[in-house]
Amino acid sequence: MDFGEVLSILKDDLNKVEASIKENFQSDVVLIPTISNYLSNGGKRIRPILILISSRLCGYNNGNKHITYSCVAEFIHTATLLHDDVLDEAEIRRGNPAANLRWGNGASVLVGDFLLSRSLTMMAEVKDPRAIFYFSEASRKMVEGEVLELTNPFNLNITEEKYIDIIKRKTAALMSASCRVGAILAKSLSTEEDTLSNFGAKVGTAFQLVDDVFDYISEEGKIGKQVGKDITNGKITLPMIHLYNNASQEDRKSIEEIVKTGNTQKENFNKIVDLMKKYHSIDYTMDKARGYIREAKEEMTSFKDSLYLNAILSVADYIVERDM
Ligand code: FPP
Ligand code: MG
Repeated sequence: MDFGEVLSILKDDLNKVEASIKENFQSDVVLIPTISNYLSNGGKRIRPILILISSRLCGYNNGNKHITYSCVAEFIHTATLLHDDVLDEAEIRRGNPAANLRWGNGASVLVGDFLLSRSLTMMAEVKDPRAIFYFSEASRKMVEGEVLELTNPFNLNITEEKYIDIIKRKTAALMSASCRVGAILAKSLSTEEDTLSNFGAKVGTAFQLVDDVFDYISEEGKIGKQVGKDITNGKITLPMIHLYNNASQEDRKSIEEIVKTGNTQKENFNKIVDLMKKYHSIDYTMDKARGYIREAKEEMTSFKDSLYLNAILSVADYIVERDM
């Protein structure tokens, strides 16, 4: 099954998720739906897709709670993007000028807060304390990941282990919770819940590794955000960690100069990308991502063959095969 087929088997549910998103960001304070609607276009809806499939895989088939939780996960995710773009001084998101650039940092932070608050009331309405627990734990971990990242700017000596810890929190936690909540909805066995949670964590880690590769080698038009922003912001991600640890003494000096002076204009950025090619840092990072996907899929061997098992495995492949 390819990712297009996954979208087609989920078509009805995904349409309901879109309707729920539009309905639940409404407010008489018009700037709130304006910004929410603006940002809502162009998202890949990976977290809703994970919830929909994992709930179906575990046998959920009576009710609309999977739609509500999909909307909750997308609202939490959108809130983090609004906040993250303020932190990163982003100029483009999902192919459009970033909300912080159009409406300012204050409006972006507050609309993020609105979406986060809305996700809380929506969860309270469903009244499942375990789903509330896992989504709030994921939110806590995301904040911790961002704070860890914030406190390690321009740190070329950050270890691969520390970096993986950061991305597990800032990105993998919400995907892990999304998969788990699907199982919770279906009142699944706790072993199935744990399996799906591990699957989501691994897929989420791979997702961020690929995202970090795109920041060096993709095109703005494809990924809908700026390329080269990570080193300008002093974000030391795996391609750079690998490069710095493997470069010759002389190359390390040029890397330090470029990263530490923040002089990351085109010529210097291209030099870094060329060095990454020379030392196979992009290949190394993509291999790591593929390794996480392999492990994620191995987690799922306890589920018996089904349409939804194939669908979730196909989402895992899409994470490393996507070009956006
Ligand atoms: C994107 O990383 C950012 C995240 C995955 C997490 C952001 C989380 C917060 C700002 C904490 C706030 C939390 C809540 C619950 C509101 P990136 O900058 O590497 O990716 P990008 O290239 O898409 O910007
Ligand atoms: Mg960012």
